[in-house]
Amino acid sequence: MKGAIIDAIKDLVVENFGMEKWMDVLENAGLPRTTTFSVRKDVPDETVLAVVESISRTLNLSPEEVADAFGEYWVTVYMPKVYKPYYRGVTSARELLLKMDEIHRKATQNIPNAHPPRFEYRWEAPNVLIMKYKSPRKLMAIFMGLAKGVGKFYKTPLQVEQISEDEVRITFPE
Ligand code: HEM
Repeated sequence: MKGAIIDAIKDLVVENFGMEKWMDVLENAGLPRTTTFSVRKDVPDETVLAVVESISRTLNLSPEEVADAFGEYWVTVYMPKVYKPYYRGVTSARELLLKMDEIHRKATQNIPNAHPPRFEYRWEAPNVLIMKYKSPRKLMAIFMGLAKGVGKFYKTPLQVEQISEDEVRITFPE
């Protein structure tokens, strides 16, 4: 996966728990305490998953808590800083979520070996969106954490619930 993901995870852990804890996370994931990741390079999926899993163990958080914290951080802090252009002209949670398929295609088109997630959309009611998450990685908890993060960024109270193996129902306030 693109190094940006693990870079954001590192920032989040260091800001909230300190550098020592981040090093503990690395060690518990079977990596040297001084490991660094380049934002531009690819990091193997297994490494990213080992680190996420280690965060949950080392910091005593449930996988959902890790996913929600990551989702909020990625969408409200890291992305607006690093991927600013994608937010330009987007004024609501609804619009940003509807742009996700296109954003992932564009953000990864020049990266060899990138396999971005794809999304399909279907409206169940004027304020109820079914979003299908298509990725062989099956990071459903992370996907849901990110969708909730979009709500936080636009200060829109969203309800996000999983309705099948690869679909969530997102209810916007009326
Ligand atoms: C401007 C906003 C965003 C940008 C630029 C962005 C970009 C990226 C990039 C570059 C990757 C790595 C892909 C790869 O290495 O193959 C990724 C992964 C991912 N993104 Fe985003 N992302 C954004 C927002 C979101 C949001 C809001 C969601 C969910 C609603 C989301 C869902 C995911 C998931 C679940 C993955 C993990 C990889 C997978 O499932 O296969 N992203 N994103």
